[in-house]
Amino acid sequence: MITGKYPSLRLRRSRKYDWSRKLVQENNLSSSDLIYPIFLIEGKNKRQPIKSMPGIYRYTIDKLGVIISKVIRHRIPMVALFPLTPNNKKDKYGNESLNENNLVCKAIRYIKKKFKNKIGIMCDVALDPYTTHGHDGLLKNNYVLNDKTVEILMKQSLLQAQMGCDVIAPSDMMDGRVGKIRKLLDKNYYHDVQILSYAVKYASHFYGPFRDAVGSKKSLKGDKKNYQMDFSNKDESLREVALDIKEGADMIMVKPGMPYLDIIQKVKENFKIPVIAYQVSGEYSLIKNGIKNKLISEDAIIESLISFKRAGATAIVSYFALDISNKL
Ligand code: PBG
Repeated sequence: MITGKYPSLRLRRSRKYDWSRKLVQENNLSSSDLIYPIFLIEGKNKRQPIKSMPGIYRYTIDKLGVIISKVIRHRIPMVALFPLTPNNKKDKYGNESLNENNLVCKAIRYIKKKFKNKIGIMCDVALDPYTTHGHDGLLKNNYVLNDKTVEILMKQSLLQAQMGCDVIAPSDMMDGRVGKIRKLLDKNYYHDVQILSYAVKYASHFYGPFRDAVGSKKSLKGDKKNYQMDFSNKDESLREVALDIKEGADMIMVKPGMPYLDIIQKVKENFKIPVIAYQVSGEYSLIKNGIKNKLISEDAIIESLISFKRAGATAIVSYFALDISNKL
């Protein structure tokens, strides 16, 4: 594919001036490519810093108006909600996930009432914010049960849809849950509620700060390797995606982000479906601390986000979304 040679061909020619670099730029980033995660906490009038994630806070419901207005002003199309459940509301079964007055349900109702459809709401479907053992499903002999867990996830999804959630995002990695959730939503006339499946979620070491943020870090027993994917695998990701598309997923998540750009590219090449990348908490904190310690410049944030676009991602869940959309 090389169409000439040095010295008549000089690739630096197009890099000489800013206008020229802009002209030949192959990918760019806009705030409509971003999804902003928001952590929730019980109580009133609180914006609580999260130690492991500098610059990120947990918000009480009454504080959501301010932050969501900002997100809308910055033209970010969707937020993802994550709750910090108080310990006394956690149990072995994650029952609090089915309480219509839990933090996530209250937040959905509040946001939809105040902002109508000016912003999309995405909610995780998984039990880890609600279980005492910190796993995404029901635990028996240190193994997460699949089918029994799916039954609860179905109810959790329906409840979120009833509250007004726009995009149901199962992040649990149980087999078969997308199809079952789709069926139950349709049966209850929620045909238009979308499913964003975390089809490709790796058992990653980059989730540390998030588990701290939702309070599952200390409680988590063992690891999540018997349901989340082995980070050595690539072909398996295509099998996961193929299954979830057949079961009715509208969009596919690949998670984590930067260490998995090869997977994003592979999925995008093989399936013509929106692929969302999740730049997870560990990635965020590493970059943020690098900037804080003046090891890297702030422009590393845009570089990291554009890399997802280059790989083929349609949108990116990122804790940088709000900060960075100012500069786009
Ligand atoms: C849990 C869930 C996790 C994240 C999103 N949903 C953590 C996990 O699987 O342990 C991680 C997000 C992040 O690290 O930013 N179902």
